[in-house]
Amino acid sequence: MSSIDYAEKIPNNVNIGGDRTLQRALEHWQPHFLQWWHEMGPSDFESADVYLRTAISVDAQGWAHYGAVHMPDYRWGIFLADPVADRKIGFGDRMGEPAWQQVPGEYRSTLRRLIVTQGDTEPASVEQQRLLGHSCPSLYDLRNLFQINVEEGRHLWAMVYLLHAYFGRDGREEAEELLARHSGDRDKPRILTTFNEPISDWLSLYCFTYFTDRDGKYQLKSFAESAFDPLSRTCRFMLTEEAHHMFVGETGIGRVVKRTLEVMKELGTDDPARIRAHGAVDLPTLQRYLNFWCSSSLDLFGSEISSNSAANFASGLKGRPDEAQYEDHVLREKTMKLLMPEGEQDVPMLNALNEVMRESYLKDCEIGLKRWNRQIERAGFDLRLTLPSSRFRRSIGAWVGLPVDPQGKLVSKELFAKSLGSWIPSEADRAFVHSLMKRVAEPGKMAAWIAPPERGINNLPVEYEYVKLH
Ligand SMILES: [Fe+2]
Ligand SMILES: [Fe+2]
Repeated sequence: MSSIDYAEKIPNNVNIGGDRTLQRALEHWQPHFLQWWHEMGPSDFESADVYLRTAISVDAQGWAHYGAVHMPDYRWGIFLADPVADRKIGFGDRMGEPAWQQVPGEYRSTLRRLIVTQGDTEPASVEQQRLLGHSCPSLYDLRNLFQINVEEGRHLWAMVYLLHAYFGRDGREEAEELLARHSGDRDKPRILTTFNEPISDWLSLYCFTYFTDRDGKYQLKSFAESAFDPLSRTCRFMLTEEAHHMFVGETGIGRVVKRTLEVMKELGTDDPARIRAHGAVDLPTLQRYLNFWCSSSLDLFGSEISSNSAANFASGLKGRPDEAQYEDHVLREKTMKLLMPEGEQDVPMLNALNEVMRESYLKDCEIGLKRWNRQIERAGFDLRLTLPSSRFRRSIGAWVGLPVDPQGKLVSKELFAKSLGSWIPSEADRAFVHSLMKRVAEPGKMAAWIAPPERGINNLPVEYEYVKLH
């Protein structure tokens, strides 16, 4: 079951050859996808040989093959984790009933909406990142960018498969729309705001992969619990790929911190102007980037109080990440204390699940911060990087538009307006970061604003020529 058939036009482990109608529909969508990749994927690197991993099985061990590939020839395919025999619904009002192999009629439009919203983020991120190749800090980083891009393309395939296989004509139309909306487009933008933010420098890329791909991890984990078994199996395999994306973010920021600390030590100062003059990113600027991308990603979890998330949980469509770690899987009796602008409020737990997810997400985000702060502490500097409060700069939920500082305190509107420029990147910050973005494409060489990685990809040396440009 877990081996993947690469002789097929569309590699897959779900026997799409056994369903002629489905196969034809997907083969019809395939050239549209390739056209989209050509127009909206990484600009100008179609002839480069890129050292990429490609899924060859869905086993935890040895699931990927590594080798040089022209990106347009990447074998995007449909891979689901192996089924769990007799899988039962693990939460909600229908807990204990058999998982669904088909979509129940009453949940059809809700499930389709959930799948489309997840699916929309995958090509969106490829579009957001399409120009970054021109300013890569090294070939190692360039390869990682492209690895992420081809895998987000594959995640689109994963969602399109579900739409085609389980949602009939509506699903096929949605699959076309996934290629028609574009990140940042005036008329047809992507569904979620964060995926319309431009990512035009590598510091933003590392923040995006640290914070926004991690939101992806939490969404996928909650879908991995779904009663709709094909969705669960799809998301379980996507999580395997997702880990690398967050690795790029965490190590990317860690390498920026490392390089900055070297410069601070060398100059014997923490003065941002002097650090910048030396071509490194001062830590206050990094803090502002963290504030921006973290707060933007926090919105992706939705409102603090949500009847949709309650309904999705009760009906078994979407669980909590790692549902097994909790004791109560029905949540009809529990309440949760939420801090609202009017004060603390007791809310039925079912209605507060977005907040439950947001809190566990923030805890996961702390791991990298601890690591970076240890680096700073060891270098002998007092400054510490922090995560902004989940009430800061919200554009959804109870705290929308309220003047809250990054520590979560309500402040006056005047103070907020005056200080926002020092809490998130200013135009001048962005211009400075942009000025650092010069392509470094000699094997083993790094841009001056970032330290080399500790090791290369797949046991190869850092100096390996990960991308052969022609
Ligand atoms: Fe993804
Ligand atoms: Fe990702």
